Amino acid sequence: MISFPNAKINLGLHVTAKRKDGYHELETCMVPIPLFEALEMILDNKTVFTSTGLPIPGVDKDNLILKAFKLLRKDFNDLPNLNIHLHKNIPIGAGLGGGSADAAFALKLMNNLFDLHLEDWFLEDYAAQLGSDCPFFIENTPKIATGRGEILEPVSVDLKGKYLVLINPQIHISTKDAYSGISPKKPLGNLKNILADQSLWKAHLVNDFEASIFPKYPEIAQIKDRLYDLGAFYAAMSGSGATVFGLFDSKPESVEWKEGYFVFGAEM
Ligand code: C5P
Repeated sequence: MISFPNAKINLGLHVTAKRKDGYHELETCMVPIPLFEALEMILDNKTVFTSTGLPIPGVDKDNLILKAFKLLRKDFNDLPNLNIHLHKNIPIGAGLGGGSADAAFALKLMNNLFDLHLEDWFLEDYAAQLGSDCPFFIENTPKIATGRGEILEPVSVDLKGKYLVLINPQIHISTKDAYSGISPKKPLGNLKNILADQSLWKAHLVNDFEASIFPKYPEIAQIKDRLYDLGAFYAAMSGSGATVFGLFDSKPESVEWKEGYFVFGAEM
């Protein structure tokens, strides 16, 4: 069986408190985007993981797909072995949720493959054990996320027909480091109202990580400015970076970006 895990972007990201367990409380809107990997699982007599596409560092140790498999195996004895193959297209450690998407889609794929008939809320519970933004990818529809990112509320965000551009300057920012540089602020409270009116996004939807990351990496701030120059109605860093996305009413003119950048464009 094959499935196609997709990336996400964050429309605004507010860090509202530091918790005693080391995590931070946040308030954000996550939206699925059409940048996909391919994940294949076949029953086999031993468990093997292989990957093609973008290189995945530490693939055997920290692989969230294998962790998802082990998590199910703890609760369901006798699960057969799997030959797992991932074709990686979503840049790693880029604020696009690729690893979490892989893990969530692995849970959904195994649910089908092993006929477990687990409901989404149950899969979300497993997903929360694998990563804070992992539960989002179970239903994979626009959600306001609070708590450490795992408390999800559906929200209507209409981006159909808009053009998405992603630029990643190949700067790697660890989520942990990004959180350590942040000072929590009060929750917005009116995120739903802001999301309902796209003309408010540029002025009101802020990614709090930008304030600590842009001074350290001016190149990322310049990408955001460039996307606005090209006519984006909204541009921001996604998650803890370093990918910057731009949303356009129609496909922008072709432009040259610096060599080595990851560049992606697609209609939403
Ligand atoms: O949940 P996840 O494994 O993706 O988080 C990676 C790290 O990012 C955590 O260990 C924590 O340091 C930080 N984090 C945080 N608050 C969140 C999510 C992540 O401080 N809401």
